[in-house]
Amino acid sequence: MTSVPSMFDRIGEQDPDRDYFATGGTGRSHEFYTGEEQFRREMKEIYGRRWLPVDHVSRLGDKGSYTTLDIGTGSILLIHGDEGVQAFHNYCRHRGYKLVEEPTGRRQSIVCLYHCWVYDRNGALKSLNGTYLDHFFDKGENGLIPIRTEVRFGLVFVSFSDDAPDLDDALAEFGEFARAYELADLQVVQAKDYPVASNWKLVAHNVNESLHFPTAHKDLHRVTDFDDAGTYMLGGDLVGAWQVIHEGYNSVSSTGRSERRPIPSVPEGDLQKINWITILPNLLFGFTADYVMAQWVWPESPATCTVRHFWLFHPSETARPDFSHEAVFALWDKANHEDWELCERTHRGLSNPLWSPGQLSLDEEVVSQIDAWVARATDPATGGTGTAT
Ligand code: FES
Ligand SMILES: [Fe+2]
Repeated sequence: MTSVPSMFDRIGEQDPDRDYFATGGTGRSHEFYTGEEQFRREMKEIYGRRWLPVDHVSRLGDKGSYTTLDIGTGSILLIHGDEGVQAFHNYCRHRGYKLVEEPTGRRQSIVCLYHCWVYDRNGALKSLNGTYLDHFFDKGENGLIPIRTEVRFGLVFVSFSDDAPDLDDALAEFGEFARAYELADLQVVQAKDYPVASNWKLVAHNVNESLHFPTAHKDLHRVTDFDDAGTYMLGGDLVGAWQVIHEGYNSVSSTGRSERRPIPSVPEGDLQKINWITILPNLLFGFTADYVMAQWVWPESPATCTVRHFWLFHPSETARPDFSHEAVFALWDKANHEDWELCERTHRGLSNPLWSPGQLSLDEEVVSQIDAWVARATDPATGGTGTAT
C-alpha cells in the first residue's frame, strides 16, 4: 500500500455488504453479458431513463458550437445556444432527416438538406422553403425536440425521461475529484472514437481494472503499479479505484515523463497516483496529476459498442508554445487497441451458452460492482423504476 496519505483515503472504508460477495465473487451469466433481453432492459431502464454524461463544456465553448453523439439507435445534437448548452434530438421535424452528421463544428443555423427547413442555434424553426402556407402553419410548434440537459463540473448530462433518478444524488462524491482536478476548467485537446465488437459491459469491466496491465499493456505496466492499488467504496452511481505511479515517473505516457506542471489543485498525496473514477453506467475518468482522460462506452447492440476517448489538459499548459500531448496519446491509443482485442475475444468466449461464470479476484472488485449496479437497475422486480438501490 502507498505510504502517501490521500485526501480520498477515508472513502476507502470497507462496506460489509460489498457487491463482490453477493455472487460469491463470480461473474454473471452468458445471458447477462450477451443476451438480447438483458440488452433491451439496459437500453430502456439505464440509457433511456437515467442521467447520462455526454460531453465536456470545453467542446461547446462558443455560441453556435455543437457536437453530436449516437446513443442506441438515436442521435443527439448538443449546441451552445443563447441560454447555454442544450441537447436536441438530431432529426428534422418535417420528415425526420438526420440533421447533423459531423461530430463537432460551429454554426448559427441548422439547415435541413432535404427540403430546407432552417432552425436557429436555440432549436427554433426559423424558415421553411416557401412551399408552405405559413398562415396556418405554427413554426413555434415545430422547433427541434429538446432533451433534458444539465451541466455539472464541466460535464453535460442529458436524460430522455422525466423520472430520471436525481442527478446530484447519483454523482455523490464525484465533485471532490472533479474539483481537485479542476475538471470544469480543463480543455479537451483530442477526442477519438473506437468501434468495438463486444458488449458494452465487457469494455466497462476492462477499463475499470488494472489486473490485466502486466499481460496486455507493457508501456502502461512500466509506469504504473498494478499491485499498489485499491478500490474506493463510493456512493451514488460511482465506482472507483486508485493506483500508484512508479517512482521515477511523473506522467502516465509512453515516456513516463513530462515537463507539464501538475494541475494546481491536485493534493500532494495524489500527485503520484491515478484516481480511476467511473460515473455509471458508462464514463470512466483517469485523473492524473498532469492530465485527465475520459472514456465512454456507448452500446449499439448486444455485441457492439463505440468507445469515445477524450484527453483533457489544463489551459495554462495548452497555452504554452511547446505544449504536446503526443506521448500521452501514444500510450493510450496503443493501450486502447490492446484492450478492444481483449474485449472482443472475451465477448466471443461469453457468447458460448456453455460458458459458466468464473471467479473474480478482489483486485477486480469493480467488475462485481458494475455488474451489481446494472443488475439492480434492470431488475424486472423494481417495477420499471430503474432505481438501483
Ligand atoms: S426532412 Fe427536413 S426539410 Fe424535409
Ligand atoms: Fe486495459
